[in-house]
Amino acid sequence: MNYNQILIKGENFLKKNKIKNPYLDVELILSKVVNKKREEILLNTNTRLNRPDILRFKKYLLRRRQKEPMAYILGYKHFWKHKFLTNKSVLIPRPDTELVIEETLKYLPKYKSKKILDVGTGSGCIVVSLIKDRPKCKATAIDISIKAINVAKTNAKLHQLENKINFINIDIDKYRSYNYDLIISNPPYINSVELNRLDDDIKFHEPKLALSGGFDGLRDLKKVILKSKKLLKTNGKLILEIGHKQKNQCSKILNENKFYINKISKDLSGADRCIVSTKLQ
Ligand SMILES: C[S@@+](CC[C@H](N)C(=O)[O-])C[C@H]1O[C@@H](n2cnc3c(N)ncnc32)[C@H](O)[C@@H]1O
Repeated sequence: MNYNQILIKGENFLKKNKIKNPYLDVELILSKVVNKKREEILLNTNTRLNRPDILRFKKYLLRRRQKEPMAYILGYKHFWKHKFLTNKSVLIPRPDTELVIEETLKYLPKYKSKKILDVGTGSGCIVVSLIKDRPKCKATAIDISIKAINVAKTNAKLHQLENKINFINIDIDKYRSYNYDLIISNPPYINSVELNRLDDDIKFHEPKLALSGGFDGLRDLKKVILKSKKLLKTNGKLILEIGHKQKNQCSKILNENKFYINKISKDLSGADRCIVSTKLQ
């Protein structure tokens, strides 16, 4: 079987199984299997595959049929300016979170050394992206999941930052290290009703620990705000990614805890997604 034939077969198989964007997925899978860029594949459609590659292609296709996200099948996802290794222990980095990076960089002057904490680091996509752009800063990243911390460490190493970021496997509730200039967090913030309505790709494959924010979705946002009140310096910044309907409740919790709201930004779909706030006292 050649590239062209396997692409057609693969596309038809995914189409029959109601997978969105079947052609793109089979191209990416073939590119992984034969370890060639997609352009190279398209320029050499008559190249024949060997048997082990055909079997690997079929194996990945079966995983995709089960709605496993492409980022887990391929093992990576592009985020901000970099490539991050991903597996089922971590949330797949989202374009919405790039907005949080964009906003955060505005509060980190290029040539100053600020002390940063990333709460719920997952793949490490936030902290690695920030330190790549602001190498003078010192960062700690924490996560309750040891498997996530291991993925984040691997990503830091991949980007030559293993000695610049301190990764700790700990629950935010138990973390006690103070005087941060900036805390950033994309905590789990999906409420129990929305959790059940998520696409199968997310619902059945991404870690619940990274998605579920409890009954009202605010459980972990509250924890991060209350804890940040203690961990931040006065005038330190707390930058949070929030769910699309959480702006008012989150602002209320921040105000009750003596945070001033600097800015609330919307994502590309127009939903409120990022709150920048300052600890007043
Ligand atoms: C929504 S994911 C964010 C991952 C990554 N920062 C990103 O933006 O792609 C939330 C992360 O918080 C972690 N987490 C959940 N509860 C936590 C807790 N109590 N303390 C520390 N981390 C927690 C999860 O394991 C998960 O990796």
